Amino acid sequence: ARESAALAVAALAPDRTVAVVGTGTMGQGIAQVALVAGHPVRLYDSAPGRAAEAVAAIGARLDRLVEKGRLDAAARDAAASRLHAAAEPGDLADAALVVEAIVERLPVKQQLFADLEKVVGDETILATNTSSLSVTAIAGGLRLPGRFVGLHFFNPAPLLPLVEVVSGFATDPDVATRAYVTMKAWGKTPVRCADTPGFIVNRVARPFYAEALRVYEEGGADPATIDAALRECGGFRMGPFELTDLIGQDVNEAVTRSVWEAFHQDPKFTPSLAQRRLVESGRLGRKTGHGWFSYAEGAQRPEA
Ligand code: NAI
Repeated sequence: ARESAALAVAALAPDRTVAVVGTGTMGQGIAQVALVAGHPVRLYDSAPGRAAEAVAAIGARLDRLVEKGRLDAAARDAAASRLHAAAEPGDLADAALVVEAIVERLPVKQQLFADLEKVVGDETILATNTSSLSVTAIAGGLRLPGRFVGLHFFNPAPLLPLVEVVSGFATDPDVATRAYVTMKAWGKTPVRCADTPGFIVNRVARPFYAEALRVYEEGGADPATIDAALRECGGFRMGPFELTDLIGQDVNEAVTRSVWEAFHQDPKFTPSLAQRRLVESGRLGRKTGHGWFSYAEGAQRPEA
């Protein structure tokens, strides 16, 4: 039934403009996916110069795809010609879909969408890439919350197929369906879900991190041993410690904290003190050269 409903609502036509707001890690990846799917793409970031940097970074990534033989040069040139930085939110007026990937703070996201709603048309779909905030809360102050949906991509967005299409309390089912079929048209593997804390993946993954941290905190084994055990058991490409070093200890802890708060501090989701100390010390993982492991010379080795 879900599949036939999906067929009744068309994907966004490739000639419609997609805007991406917030052009950091996720925004760049999402923009690249929309671009390769054929859309004209506009990038906006509130940090001066950041959107232009993102245009250059995405261009370089498309060049690498050409070098690897995964994109032909003509397609790269066409894609690059469809990508533009916007100087202000007003330049996003003709977007049919806006995907937001800014800082993970509810009031900042709410303000952004309140501003965007004054700029875009009533038919424009507004989407958030939030990993842990309530889609319903972000849309709470909107004039037309029915056109609001969660589009939760995973990092790196061009490589990982999954997109959680999250319906908030007020999301129009046709909007969610349009978002879902558009993700299919972009070559993604969308799944639909309701707006529960952590959605599907981030919630189910919480105990994976939490129990590994507890084994460590109880002196059960060190991070390298726990990672190795989980890698060797078959199903996990990375252990929880190396994976959170990749994600960023601050980001991972914030998601845990957010899910814990949302479930009224359910002990099952209690954040780890050991991880708190790591974040406080600035050892955030690969991005700072140090987390559970040291990446000083590009080599991964257990901390002393
Ligand atoms: P990031 O820090 O790399 O990029 C955020 C960008 O947003 C920055 O360039 C910043 O200048 C810009 N920005 C901040 N406030 C803004 C505003 N009011 N208006 C316009 N631009 C603004 O962050 P990242 O990692 O790309 O995360 C973005 C969002 O995606 C967050 O909601 C995060 O929870 C979510 N997310 C992150 C994932 C990850 O693995 N990093 C995975 C899935 C979702």
